[in-house]
Parts: sequence; C-alpha cells; structure tokens
Amino acid sequence: MSKVLIIGCGGVASVAIHKCCQVSDVFTEICIASRTKSKCDKLAAKLAPTTSTKITTAQVNADNTDEVIALIRSYQPELVMNIALPYQDLTIMDACLACGVNYMDTANYEPEDTDDPAWRRIYEARCEKEGFSAYFDYSWQWAYREKFEQAGLTALLGSGFDPGVTQAYCAYAAKHEFDQIDTIDILDCNGGDHSYPFATNFNPEINLREVSAPGSYWENGHWVEIPAMSIKREYDFDQVGHKDMYLLHHEEIESLAQNIPGVRRIRFFMTFGQSYLDHMRCLENVGMLSTTPILFEGKEIVPIQFLKALLPDPATLGPRTKGKTNIGCIFTGKKDGKDKTYYIYNICDHEACYKEVGSQAVSYTTGVPAMCGALMLLTGKWNKPGVYTVEEFDPDPYLDALDKYGLPRSESHAPVLVD
Ligand SMILES: NC(=O)c1ccc[n+]([C@@H]2O[C@H](COP(=O)([O-])OP(=O)(O)OC[C@H]3O[C@@H](n4cnc5c(N)ncnc54)[C@H](OP(=O)(O)O)[C@@H]3O)[C@@H](O)[C@H]2O)c1
Repeated sequence: MSKVLIIGCGGVASVAIHKCCQVSDVFTEICIASRTKSKCDKLAAKLAPTTSTKITTAQVNADNTDEVIALIRSYQPELVMNIALPYQDLTIMDACLACGVNYMDTANYEPEDTDDPAWRRIYEARCEKEGFSAYFDYSWQWAYREKFEQAGLTALLGSGFDPGVTQAYCAYAAKHEFDQIDTIDILDCNGGDHSYPFATNFNPEINLREVSAPGSYWENGHWVEIPAMSIKREYDFDQVGHKDMYLLHHEEIESLAQNIPGVRRIRFFMTFGQSYLDHMRCLENVGMLSTTPILFEGKEIVPIQFLKALLPDPATLGPRTKGKTNIGCIFTGKKDGKDKTYYIYNICDHEACYKEVGSQAVSYTTGVPAMCGALMLLTGKWNKPGVYTVEEFDPDPYLDALDKYGLPRSESHAPVLVD
C-alpha cells in the first residue's frame, strides 16, 4: 500500500512504470512527473485500463529543487524514484530531505555543465587524487550520507542493471559462493540489432559521454586509467555468441572497490560493433560530442545536445531491435581454501521485452531493477537510514524479485575467464 512519485518518463522510466503497474498491491498509487507532461499523460492513458494502480501525472522541472519540493508536498509520496537524468540527482535528493521522503535513482550524479568553474575545480582535484577522469563519481551523493542518516531516510543509488544488478551479483557471490573474492569482471553484452547505422540504446548524451571517456579499472588498491577503447577482448556470450568488448570506466567499480573486502581487481567490459565505434570516433573528431556551448548563427548550442536531436530516440528502437543482451559478473576467488570461479548473468530478449512493455531490452534491463529496488524499499526489506549502493543490502530478496519480474539469473561454475 504505497504512494510513489516517479520523476522521468523516458525509455527506462516507461519500463519501470509498466512494472510498477504489474505490482499494484505494493504500488497502489503512482504519480508520473517530468518536464513534458503530455508524455506522462500518454503513458498513464495506455496503462490505466490494464492496472489497479491509481496513476496521476504532473509537470516538473527537476533541475529546480523548489518545484520538486512543491510537488512532493502536494502528492505526499513515501518514495521518490528518480528516473530522469543523472543531472537531477542532487536537486531531487535535496527535495527528498526537505520533505522527509526516501529516494532512489539509477545512475550517479554528473553535472550537465562540465565547464562550470566551481564544479571543475572539485573535479580536477578528484582526478588528481583518485586517478580517474570520468565526469561522474559517487562523492557528490556520498556527501549526503550524514544528512539522510540524521533524517532517518534511505537513499538507494544506482538501481538499474549496471550499476545495480551487477552489484547485487557481487553481494550474492560474496554471501553464498566465496570466502574471498579476488577479481571481478563485469561483462555487458548487447547482441541486439536495430538496423540503424548509428543509434544509442539509452539517452545519447549520457551514453556517448560514458563511452568516449578514458577507460579505467581498479587494481591493487588504485585506479589504472587507459585511453578510451584501448583494451579489447573477445568473448563467447551464452545465447549471443562471439562479440568484441572494450574496457570502460563504470561507476559501480568505485563502490565495489570499497565494499568487497580484499578484492584485487575489478574491470568492466562492454560490447560494441565496428559501425558504432567508427561513427563515434568520427563524431568525436569533428567536435559533435562536445558539451561546451558554441555560437551558431547567433544562438548558443551544445554540440552533443544538437546531436541528440538528430539521433533516433532510444524509446523508438523497441519495434526494430532483435537479438539478446547478456550482462553479468565473472568472479575468481577462494572457497574453503580452494580456488574457485563463478559467473552469474542475465539474458534478456529484445523482442520479448517489446512484446511485454513496448521497449527494447536495454530500457527493460534498467527499468525492471528500478522497480525491484523500489519494491525492496517499500516492503521494508532494504531500509536503513543513509545513502547506499545496491551491494550494501541483502542481495537475496532483490535477486528473487528480479527472477520473478522478468530478469532471471543464470549461473556457471566453470566459466571461460577474460585474460
Ligand atoms: N543503471 C543502468 O543500468 C542504466 C542503464 C541505462 C540508463 N540508466 C539511467 O537511466 C536514466 C534514464 O535514462 P533514459 O534512457 O530513460 O533517458 P531518456 O529516455 O532521455 O528519459 C529521461 C527522462 O527524464 C526527463 N527529464 C530530463 N530532464 C528533466 C528535468 N530537468 N526535470 C524533469 N524531468 C526531466 C525527460 O523528460 P522530457 O522528455 O520531458 O525532457 C525524460 O522523460 C538516466 O539517468 C540513465 O543514466 C541507467
């Protein structure tokens, strides 16, 4: 019996909202709010005849804390699900604190304006101190720990697939499979084909910022940074086949390095086809991935935002995408004094997702864990005051919920390792 405010109504949020509406006994009332209310209204009208969840909608600009506070005060939810963009994480957390409401999101904070001098000073000091140069990191949201603890509120960070389920897989391996985890390789494979020469599977701006940044991994207590796409491996993925994958920096490495005791190395690999890489390199070379505004015919435009307007909307890829995703974690370590390896992963079919909720598997594999994270908070399974990432909670009820609501796990105790 819960009332939930969901901010965002894009590709990922749409799946999470479909899923909330399948669990009406917990999500009894939801309010969908975003900048463009008409999108929320359209989704609410589609879902209303299929669910007993009571759906309302609202317009909000979540960059503005006061607007979010006003909305929370008028709707009175128990939880705010932030499924807008990472740019809004801090404003929404501030609003939750002001109103005494629990918070969750699917991606850690990064600023929209990376040229802001105040932000840049802190960012450059962090690059120097930590040794990785991604625009996003947990420090901004971890800085809210004490405030959430004192308010008796829970903030759950990054409940998508990666971050999110991958961390639950790590917590599960630590709880059930190993006495000591030595290495973790997170492998994210999208074997889907949407037949466009170039399109991104989720928000293009966030996606292209992530994959064009230098790669990095955690080894022996510190970060090792490498030029973008400079470490490549091939892997034979269950039900997908052979794919090239590249080492990327990824946000969950940062929290796992702190929360998995004694881990020696953590890497993250994502598959990319040659066409995607060729397009991205070309767009980067001509300056289209830049986040710095330029003057064009007297008007200021941000190149990557202009590019976003030209590219296919990820939410429209659903009907065109065929194939499967395969995302999971390979572990090495020790159990009862013996060496051990273990692989836990999920396989998700793009066409089956589209049939069920009208979205492709990349949105689905993020939206379902968002709903399951909310379910953990609303049913009291994951409540502790403070700011936490997924691996800091008991993985069992979360993985059981994922099994039940569309992302079942597969396992191997003799996986091929990545060299
Ligand atoms: N953890 C994971 O595995 C994972 C994987 C993929 C994506 N993600 C994260 O999931 C989130 C959503 O991604 P997506 O692909 O669904 O993005 P999207 O399709 O671009 O949707 C973003 C939504 O946020 C709304 N929004 C943007 N700025 C807003 C603001 N200032 N105030 C209120 N609403 C605002 C947009 O509304 P308008 O359309 O009206 O602007 C839109 O409904 C992102 O944070 C992304 O990083 C996580």
